[in-house]
Amino acid sequence: MQLTGNYLALAYLVSATLFILGLKGLTHPASARRGNYYAMTGMLLAIVATVLDPAVKSYGFIVAGVVVGATIGTVIALRIRMTAMPQLVAALHSFVGLTAVLVAVGTYLTHSHEDALNRVLMTELFVGAFIGAITFTGSLVAFGKLQGIISGKPLLFRGQHILNLAMAVVMLGFGLQFLLHNHFWALLVMIALALALGILLIVPIGGADMPVVVSMLNSYSGWAAAATGFTLGNNLLIITGALVGFSGAILSYIMSRAMNRSIVSIILGGFGGGEGASGASTATAGSKGIKTAAVEDAAFFMTNAAKVIVVPGYGMAVAQAQHALKELADILESKGVTVHFAIHPVAGRMPGHMNVLLAEADVPYDHVFEMEEINPEFATADVALVVGANDVTNPAAKSDKSSPIYGMPILDVYRARQIFFVKRSMNPGYSGVENQLFYQENCSLVFGDAKKVCEKMVLELKAV
Ligand code: TAP
Repeated sequence: MQLTGNYLALAYLVSATLFILGLKGLTHPASARRGNYYAMTGMLLAIVATVLDPAVKSYGFIVAGVVVGATIGTVIALRIRMTAMPQLVAALHSFVGLTAVLVAVGTYLTHSHEDALNRVLMTELFVGAFIGAITFTGSLVAFGKLQGIISGKPLLFRGQHILNLAMAVVMLGFGLQFLLHNHFWALLVMIALALALGILLIVPIGGADMPVVVSMLNSYSGWAAAATGFTLGNNLLIITGALVGFSGAILSYIMSRAMNRSIVSIILGGFGGGEGASGASTATAGSKGIKTAAVEDAAFFMTNAAKVIVVPGYGMAVAQAQHALKELADILESKGVTVHFAIHPVAGRMPGHMNVLLAEADVPYDHVFEMEEINPEFATADVALVVGANDVTNPAAKSDKSSPIYGMPILDVYRARQIFFVKRSMNPGYSGVENQLFYQENCSLVFGDAKKVCEKMVLELKAV
């Protein structure tokens, strides 16, 4: 059976619609699963329709590719840990980039002696290879940093930006050489330079900024796919590439805005290299006039509260404390305490980080609130329990114009009647800025690993 003309176009149209419904579904945790099913159905339809395109003459390589790819993909999906998701995404983007380069080179070699090789097609080959090569090596570096194979510290050297700019100009020169004189070697030199530029663009960016970079590379991979779609004359690939390109760009923008950083300052790099200042302990806190509390004190306050708001952050993810937190919430609720979870848009290290972990621990969606919804509630909360979050609660973002996080929207934890702040030491969070909340009269630090502290709180609450 083969799909001709209109039927193929119709199948692609349905697939594209399903992809859009998929993206729509992913905008809320409750509809995310449905969104994934839409997208999976769209992809299945797209693959089947493409394979049935009369332009496909032999199936050997396709079947082999599907079997090998599906096997590797299934094994990875079953084994991957939630915390390793960003590097997996980075690795997958590198494949898209490499594919765009290979398709561009392959298409050139196939058509090099034909009339089909006109300026339009050559421009598409150039753009696809250019974006693809940058995406390929850039994603590999991002993968290396996130996986800890390469140091996460920003690698800065003098004249870095000038060098990058000069390389981009030289690449454009080779691109023109290729377009105007049909010199294949110029395309290859341009690809080699783009591969180097991909590395140079990502090495100056600190490991903690990588989620924004991964989302940007996601966008690049979309544009590379769209360029490949033009080369191959495949409308669905163009549409899908544009969807990925735009959604990645929008997500990068939203993330950088929520971190109060400009996307340009992230791209230029150099942020987030240090691992924080002073070390541990109650003694350090005491010497600074910061109060500490025992687990028992926090448990006592929470049992006597009417409303507790839990603020999870990166530390909860590192400690994998979400299950203990869920148990803690269940016990408090069984005692008649209202427990809400407050999620800041950039809590953790990737978009939706906290939502995914809380969902994994079966915290009901209607107990989880986004920043805008929950902020007015802090004023009526008896206790705010901050678990491994830091920057996203720092009132300096509102009051201290000299602070690097000034302007970043925060959770209004400072308004709660009593605040218990679970962390291991006096070290600051990702931004390296000390939290002014610690000096507030109603704030006490509970030192310890988030999981262990929450488990102890559970035992304490059970005993009361
Ligand atoms: P952070 O400000 O980084 O604070 C995390 C806190 O967790 C630290 O105070 C740390 O203190 C504590 N912690 C670490 N391990 C812990 C453990 N095992 N047990 C208990 N506490 C632990 O995190 P946040 O409040 O979630 O804010 C996120 C930050 O990351 C923001 O600055 C944001 O801009 C940035 N960022 C976010 C994203 C996305 S998309 N989410 C992307 C890039 C950057 P101790 O070391 O003392 O324990």
